[in-house]
Amino acid sequence: MKRFIYLLSTRPDIMGSKDEALGLHGTFVPNKSQSIHRWYPYVEGFSNEFVSSLLNEFAIKGQTVYDPFAGTGTTVCVAQNLGMKSVYSEINPFMRLVIEAKTNHANNVITDIESMSEYFERVTSHATSHPISQKSAIQLQTKAFGKSEIFSGKDLIEIISIKESLAELNPDNESFKAIADMALGSIAVGSSNMIRRADLRKRKAKEFNLPNYSVIDCFKEKLNQILNDLRELTITKEDFRPKLLGNSALVSHGEDMVDVVLTSPPYVNGTNYFRNTKIELWLTGFIQSTNDLRDLRDKAMAAGINSVSKRGRAASKIKSVEDIATKIDAIVVENGKDKRVPELIRRYFSDTILWLENSYRLLKEGGKIIVDIGDSYFYNIHVPADRLLLEIAESVGFRHIETRYVRDRHSNNGKPLKQVLHIMSK
Ligand SMILES: C[S@@+](CC[C@H](N)C(=O)[O-])C[C@H]1O[C@@H](n2cnc3c(N)ncnc32)[C@H](O)[C@@H]1O
Repeated sequence: MKRFIYLLSTRPDIMGSKDEALGLHGTFVPNKSQSIHRWYPYVEGFSNEFVSSLLNEFAIKGQTVYDPFAGTGTTVCVAQNLGMKSVYSEINPFMRLVIEAKTNHANNVITDIESMSEYFERVTSHATSHPISQKSAIQLQTKAFGKSEIFSGKDLIEIISIKESLAELNPDNESFKAIADMALGSIAVGSSNMIRRADLRKRKAKEFNLPNYSVIDCFKEKLNQILNDLRELTITKEDFRPKLLGNSALVSHGEDMVDVVLTSPPYVNGTNYFRNTKIELWLTGFIQSTNDLRDLRDKAMAAGINSVSKRGRAASKIKSVEDIATKIDAIVVENGKDKRVPELIRRYFSDTILWLENSYRLLKEGGKIIVDIGDSYFYNIHVPADRLLLEIAESVGFRHIETRYVRDRHSNNGKPLKQVLHIMSK
């Protein structure tokens, strides 16, 4: 039976139908105006309310919640606020910085906000009084991004001057710097010649910032927003602060320690989470150039066409996945299409076995897992990721409780798709 849920999550990396009553609560949009959640603007996130309603239904105070694909940390932030313990994994180091800034670093600075404010002041004054030369700024950008002009003119000089000031001025409390780094990442795309829609792309003529846009002013505003949010925050007890279990959800991190798993794994749809955060990753020092993205991509779940390379993990064979992948193989051969597509399908579901097995191991007996998942089309062949995930979960040992229908979506060529929540138990 279909049961609809009204506090929707959103995965705008896949288009939803235009007439559905998504409303603001169904998107990450409410998070953008909410204390702490607004620090880093995210596209592929759950809404805070969506996670709250699920955690209130499936977990109780004091229990432990795990999000294997933590993203911007909505699950762990909400769990912390509800008095639950939480653990997470997240492969993207910049996203881990965002999660840690919003939780553990925030807690570390609560009693010393005025010293952090003075440090922020020193960083912005230093960036203003010691601008990098235009020549050096262009060299640094070219070393990182080749010919792509990510930032131009004054914006390039200002953003690199902030990056250099952060590298030069070391505060006593390392959480001050972590939060300031996160703030720099947070204003990165907005200060660049790129724009994030579903994916990162170049701005069109009418999308550029006004000529009086100032990167340093924008950075100051972000820092003030953070300081204001922190002044309202109360300290979280050590027990309820989120803990990183390990970077990758594809690697085992223990057993029998979690009551509820709540997650939205990457969909099999081509979102390249690393390419989308390459500017943030560079500004915060996690990559030196786009060449370094490759190593990160290899460790991530195979979900986009760019994650299919010779170096990747070999895929385990799954009968029902083969039924679909071989149909796509035939189209690839007949029509000279991209042969990485059927390989992506195979690897995606093979990785699905890994993270579901790990989640099963981590869950206590009777524990619940709630997975947000959607289907896809490739070359007009339907890839029922929701059905396949359920089948794999059952083969791993999970018992299906129910599936809730979240919303209609549609593929790029207008075919109907959906987003569902599978609820299962160990
Ligand atoms: C759909 S997003 C999750 C968004 C999250 N629910 C939120 O509200 O912010 C999926 C996340 O999975 C992460 N990811 C991909 N492969 C991973 C892996 N092997 N281990 C852990 N995280 C991974 C991506 O970096 C991305 O942040």
